Amino acid sequence: MGGQGTVTIGFILWLWWLCWRCHSLPICEGVEDETPLHLLSTKTGYFNAHRDGSHWEKYSEEAYKSLCLSSAGVLGEAGVATGTPRHGTRYPTTEGIGRLLKVLPALSRRIRDNHRQDRGCLKERDVAQLTDWFTPFELRDRDQLQEMGYEEMAALGSHWLEFLPNLFNVTYDPSLFKIDFTIKNRTEQSAYHFLRGMFGEDAVGNIELPRAYSPNFILKFYKACPRWLREVYKNNETTYKERWLFTETEQFKKTIHAVSARLGFMHPLSSNEVEAMYDECRFETAWWPTRKSAWCTAFSFYDFEVMEYHQDLKYYYEDSYGHPLNAKTACQTLNDIRKRFQQAVQSDGEVKPRGLLYFAHDKTVFKVMASLGLFRPAHHLRHDNFEDMKNRVWRSSFVCPFSSNLAFVLYRCAAEHKVAVFFQGEPLPLTEICQGTVCGWEELQGWLKEKHLSCDLNTLCMLKDEL
Ligand SMILES: *[C@@H]1O[C@H](CO)[C@@H](O)[C@H](O)[C@H]1NC(C)=O
Ligand SMILES: *[C@@H]1O[C@H](CO)[C@@H](O)[C@H](O)[C@H]1NC(C)=O
Ligand SMILES: *[C@@H]1O[C@H](CO)[C@@H](O)[C@H](O)[C@H]1NC(C)=O
Repeated sequence: MGGQGTVTIGFILWLWWLCWRCHSLPICEGVEDETPLHLLSTKTGYFNAHRDGSHWEKYSEEAYKSLCLSSAGVLGEAGVATGTPRHGTRYPTTEGIGRLLKVLPALSRRIRDNHRQDRGCLKERDVAQLTDWFTPFELRDRDQLQEMGYEEMAALGSHWLEFLPNLFNVTYDPSLFKIDFTIKNRTEQSAYHFLRGMFGEDAVGNIELPRAYSPNFILKFYKACPRWLREVYKNNETTYKERWLFTETEQFKKTIHAVSARLGFMHPLSSNEVEAMYDECRFETAWWPTRKSAWCTAFSFYDFEVMEYHQDLKYYYEDSYGHPLNAKTACQTLNDIRKRFQQAVQSDGEVKPRGLLYFAHDKTVFKVMASLGLFRPAHHLRHDNFEDMKNRVWRSSFVCPFSSNLAFVLYRCAAEHKVAVFFQGEPLPLTEICQGTVCGWEELQGWLKEKHLSCDLNTLCMLKDEL
């Protein structure tokens, strides 16, 4: 009898303890996780992105010691360098801002109400940050480069100046550099800040940038490709199939439930609502990496991995190895590089232009990378192999953060020409094309000719029903 009484009291005590410790319920585990700054898909800031420096040692052995130590001791002879960065960290697009405004202000009020009723796991300071939330930027900022993007681009400019001074440490002369960007002015702004980093604050004011044009077959070839626009771009039936199926998996649902519960909701939020929070979290993190955005709080590390995979399933099929047309549409870009390098190899004297500086978009960079076979995963990303692919080489956060960049540098070493490829400023071997960290020009040229010489976008991009 007495024993039973003890049990009852124990039970009540335990219940009380449970509630008193509400904030440490299992569901609240993960709210204190740091935001993984380097895993935010294409909204990862350049300085936060993960780098793979593993090729430096090999590169310096190969390129420095045996090949390219010119008499001055500076890496490389003046050749041509061409870079294709994606624009820097930006503000959301018009469409993106519309989505954020539709969801977040109302959601922030519901989260505050939940918190007042003692539901959810947020701390006072997070709720305060969310209360009466409105976008921390002006409407006129939409589509523009954000201040962090200015700094990323300036850092890239000064990196290349220091890395290849015989190419870039000159007074700016329009005949020496070809600059190109797209009609989106964040790419023009990227060019401006890159040149500021390279030629300095004073000089950049006097540089006359070219006018953007459209269609641009080198930097925005996909938008000029009707077949891609019809078959791949935003094609719900094919391109988004894996992504959609992923939202039906246990893993994705678990994330939606956990995020909703941590914010005090009794019913799961819609995936639209969770995605809007995720987007705002990623933007704020890219802009201000040292502050923690309150919109990130409800996501655990695991949830960030799930959300990243959800993004990856889009980019993989829309812009990369998920569809064979993606890589093919980049052939004019590779042809342009081939032609410029060929001219440089053939001309004996000074090469003009010596630098091609191109500024484009994630869709460009993804496709150019895929056309070179870079970071090709052993298996396709699918809705049902998230766990197996956790350490995949192809991830949007790594391949295409803001300011992601690929540079091709042509060197002359004694009589031989070589091409080194740099990804995020670090040497990257073209493993599917040649051996070693740098390619011989002859070898690379042979491959480029075989694959891309007959680059006929008219035929490639023709719609089936027009044939
Ligand atoms: C560029 O050249 C100038 C003088 O010719 C030199 O003072 C400066 O250090 C050089 N800058 C770099 C980054 O090599
Ligand atoms: C961006 O482009 C728009 C229209 O093309 C123009 O009105 C605006 O001034 C540009 N903004 C910047 C910062 O260049
Ligand atoms: C996309 O496809 C899925 C499944 O096939 C369907 O449930 C969804 O409504 C479609 N979305 C649109 C916008 O058509």
